[in-house]
Amino acid sequence: MDVGAGLPGFSIVGLPDAAVQEARERVRVAISNSGYKFPTKKVIVNLAPANLRKEGPAFDLPIALAVLAASGVVPEERLEGMGVVGELSLDGGLRGVRGALSMAEGAKREGLEALVLPEQNAPEAASIGGPGVYGVRSLAEAVDFIAGEKEVAPSSPAANSRETAEEPVDDFADVAGQRYAKRALEVTAAGGHNILMNGPPGSGKTMLARRLPGILPPLTREESIEVTKVHSAAGEGGGALVERRPFRAPHHTISTSGLAGGGSNPRPGEVSLAHHGVLFLDEFPEFNRATLEVLRQPMEDGQVTISRVAATLTYPARFTLVCSMNPCPCGYSGDRRRACRCSAGQIERYQSRISGPLLDRIDLFVDVPRLTREELRGSPDAAETSGEIRARVVAAREVQLARGGVPNAALAGRKLRATCALGGNAEILFSRAIDRMGLSGRAHDRVLRVARTIADLAGEEDIAVEHVAEALNYRRAVTVEG
Ligand SMILES: Nc1ncnc2c1ncn2[C@@H]1O[C@H](COP(=O)(O)OP(=O)(O)O)[C@@H](O)[C@H]1O
Ligand SMILES: [Mg+2]
Repeated sequence: MDVGAGLPGFSIVGLPDAAVQEARERVRVAISNSGYKFPTKKVIVNLAPANLRKEGPAFDLPIALAVLAASGVVPEERLEGMGVVGELSLDGGLRGVRGALSMAEGAKREGLEALVLPEQNAPEAASIGGPGVYGVRSLAEAVDFIAGEKEVAPSSPAANSRETAEEPVDDFADVAGQRYAKRALEVTAAGGHNILMNGPPGSGKTMLARRLPGILPPLTREESIEVTKVHSAAGEGGGALVERRPFRAPHHTISTSGLAGGGSNPRPGEVSLAHHGVLFLDEFPEFNRATLEVLRQPMEDGQVTISRVAATLTYPARFTLVCSMNPCPCGYSGDRRRACRCSAGQIERYQSRISGPLLDRIDLFVDVPRLTREELRGSPDAAETSGEIRARVVAAREVQLARGGVPNAALAGRKLRATCALGGNAEILFSRAIDRMGLSGRAHDRVLRVARTIADLAGEEDIAVEHVAEALNYRRAVTVEG
């Protein structure tokens, strides 16, 4: 920031993007509309560091305050130790920004004492318990506050309205039969494993997946903050701390950047909005194959990297993948009573729309067959409720967090070996299966993690032979190992 002699002018340097250039005009107009004089000197604002691309309009308020500090309206020393963000409208009012929670974290990391930002973002920023957060409505209010002429009460975290208003969730008790699929979804929820449901149309795959949110364990506090940060960066969530595990179900027409994130003003994609929650891809083979490939990195690393012209961006993306598919284009291949109309070539082409490497990252393959008449007409009271299932899931997740600090799906390396040691018959069964099924190294680890979760659900400290057997069964149930 520099105000000096020379021709009057106002420029911003430091590789600004188009939005920052527009900021120049907004700042100029907003300053005069707020009743201050724009300095009639040469003003140069230098955004550092120059090699980082500056994006978005959140720089308006800091630029305006820097200009006013240089011309003596704002005491410069008061800006010390203070973080400022906000977009200005032409009348000098402040508009909300995306990503307030991450900015608050940055301010905390930098050891700043105060953060001044638009009023509507203040509760969100306050939720991490970092520096004092002050919400203001306009440039004039920011100036008065910083100059010490007006008091602004520090914001407190947003109360979560969703928590108190218990919205009704669809219940597993509504689903007739499909015990095998329900059990697999319980394992999925408990350990965070990826699952693919395969079956003819109308067998209840979508219905089952939609009931998963009702049995997921609660978010831990750290998870909750991470999730809120991502949603805030995407401009979603309305400021309150996210308390429920995300459940994202994008349509199969979604674009690659919609799924992975990106765009000219980059925002997190569905893989990141599903962080610590579920990404449900219904009718999996209908998704564009190239689009699906972007799942590979997050499914391995729990994060996604987006390459941009000037830099790369990384968003967290540790989700549980839940997908459904028909076994063939007509949907009836393998059905007990209805003839499939597809040729072998059609079936192969259909199944090959999902690449082998993607299938290798799925932990549980589950057949969801068409219900028999008896199952359809059976007493619905026989089915367990979501509440009963969830109680087991929550207990199993608590065991995992107490043991390794992470859900079983995230176990890796030494932690994996230490917590998933096998003995006796379990070891013998597993060793044989590795040869017989030709398990890849990745598949090997995935079976172990699932076996660990099954043992946790049973309340067992050691993984026993029946836990390994069930885990292996989930890998073999479907013959789409293309
Ligand atoms: N197992 C089931 N129990 C109760 N109703 C079912 C079941 N399976 C299917 N239905 C009924 O059929 C409808 C279609 O099921 P859906 O989950 O969309 O099937 P899919 O996704 O496998 O094609 C459901 O909305 C529900 O009314
Ligand atoms: Mg469906």
